[in-house]
Amino acid sequence: MAATTGTKRLVAALEDAHALETRTIEALTSLAESAPDAKLRDVLEQHRDETAEIRSRLEAALVTLGHGTSMRKERQAVLTAALKGFAGSLRDDASPHNLKDWYVTEHSELATFAILSRAADRLGYRDIAQLSRDATTLHRNAAEAAAGWFDYLVELMVDAP
Ligand SMILES: [Fe+2]
Repeated sequence: MAATTGTKRLVAALEDAHALETRTIEALTSLAESAPDAKLRDVLEQHRDETAEIRSRLEAALVTLGHGTSMRKERQAVLTAALKGFAGSLRDDASPHNLKDWYVTEHSELATFAILSRAADRLGYRDIAQLSRDATTLHRNAAEAAAGWFDYLVELMVDAP
């Protein structure tokens, strides 16, 4: 059966979410490696692993919908050029702005999965809706965690030599 326009657009949104998570995993890894605080590094690594799990579930969803890796890679190449900030290009490793970019990225993920879950619900893809709700919860928690480091960011901005 041919995919409906709605399903094709859902696939495109899943591919976009997959590309976003791939870039974010790379950025979280870089930020964790350069984190001067061990507790911050643990938080970043834990969320990196959560994000990798979400990306695996997105891949499984795309396979279920009949989409292979090569198409995702092609689309990712386009997105990589378009993504800026935290998920696109980290500033120098020690920059406190990376923590702000982390917060912004979490909200980009939040919006992405909040929309995906609604679209999947409308189209009757319950598993995709559930994975999107799970992702929304994880990224909301991470956004709150990122905000919890703002005082630390200010210390780096104001007090660091
Ligand atoms: Fe996240």
